[in-house]
Amino acid sequence: MTAFVLDQLDRLTFIREFAHDVSAGLSAEQKQLQPKYFYDRKGSELFEEICRQPEYYLTRAEASILRTYSPYIARVYGSVPSAIIELGSGSSAKTIILLQEFVKVQQRLYYFPIDISHSALQRALMALSDHLPAIKITGLSADYIGGIAKAGQLIAGEQISARMIVLFLGSSIGNFEPGEAESFLGIIAEKLSPGDLVLVGFDLHKNEKVLNAAYNDSAGITARFNLNILDRINRELGGEFETRHFRHFAFYNKNEKRIEMHLMSTCRQNVYIREAGRTFDFDRGETIHTEDSYKYTVRQIGQMAKQCGLKVERHFFDQNRMFDLAMFRKD
Ligand code: TRP
Repeated sequence: MTAFVLDQLDRLTFIREFAHDVSAGLSAEQKQLQPKYFYDRKGSELFEEICRQPEYYLTRAEASILRTYSPYIARVYGSVPSAIIELGSGSSAKTIILLQEFVKVQQRLYYFPIDISHSALQRALMALSDHLPAIKITGLSADYIGGIAKAGQLIAGEQISARMIVLFLGSSIGNFEPGEAESFLGIIAEKLSPGDLVLVGFDLHKNEKVLNAAYNDSAGITARFNLNILDRINRELGGEFETRHFRHFAFYNKNEKRIEMHLMSTCRQNVYIREAGRTFDFDRGETIHTEDSYKYTVRQIGQMAKQCGLKVERHFFDQNRMFDLAMFRKD
C-alpha cells in the first residue's frame, strides 16, 4: 500500500494567488469569488455535511447509481490494469463503492485522488487504506489542471501502463459555465489514449422547488458553507468581514438553467482586507456571486461529449432520473 499526499502549491504562493483572486473578484462590476476557495478544512467539512442533508439529493442519487452499476462497470472495463484519476475527490466516500468492485477483478489498480483541500485528502486516504489496503494510492493536493498534469507525470515516470479512468463526480462539472465545461472536458480528452474513459456526474433538469430546496437546506448548512469563504478571507488574508452582515442567497435561474449562489450584503458597508491592501465597498442588497451549478439534459450531455471528441459509452441513471453518471470513451 502506498498512500501519500503531494502538495502542488507552497503556502506563500497560495496566499499570493488567493489575495490576487479575491482582489480581482471583489473589484468586478458583479463581485465574485472563485468556488475553489470554499474548501479549506472547515469548508470541506461543511460540504460533507451538505451531502448528508435530506434536501441535497445529488449525493444520494449518484451514490445509488454507483452501488447499482459499479459491479457492471468493473466487470466490463476493470479487467485490465487501471489508473483511476479523480478530480475533486473530497472524502472519496462514493468512489470507494467503485474501487471495491475494481479490486475484485484487477490486482493492478492505481488511484490518484486530486483535491484542493489537503485536510480532506488526508482524511480520505486514511479511510481508503483501511477499506482497500491493496490499492496504490497517491493523493494530489492541487487544483484540477495542476493535479491532472502531476498525475500524468507520475504515470509516465513510473511507466504505469494502464487504462486511464477519469472521475469527475458530484455535478462539479456543473460549476463551470457550459462553454468552460466543454473546454475543460476537451483538455482532459486530449490527455487520454484510445479506450480511456471519463465518468462525469451531471445533475439533470428538474422541478424548480426541488432544486431550490437542495441549495437552501433547512438546517442552514449550505448557508454556513457559503459564508465560510468570508471567514476564510478573514483568517488567511487578514480580512475584516462581519459575516453577520451578509446572508446566503441561492436561487434557480430558469433562463440560464442554473442555481446561482450569492452572499448578499444586508447593509451599506466597507471591508478592509490586509493582503489585498485595500477596502471594498458594498451597497445594501449588493451580492458577491460565489458559485453556479448548471443543470443539464441528456441531449446536452451528448452534444458536449461530441464537441470534445469523446463518445458517449453509456448514461447511468438513478431510479428517479434525477442524476446522470455519463460514461465517455476516447476513440
Ligand atoms: N458540485 C456541487 C453542486 O453543484 C457544489 C455545491 C453544492 C455547492 N452545494 C453547494 C457549492 C453550495 C457552493 C455552495 O451541487
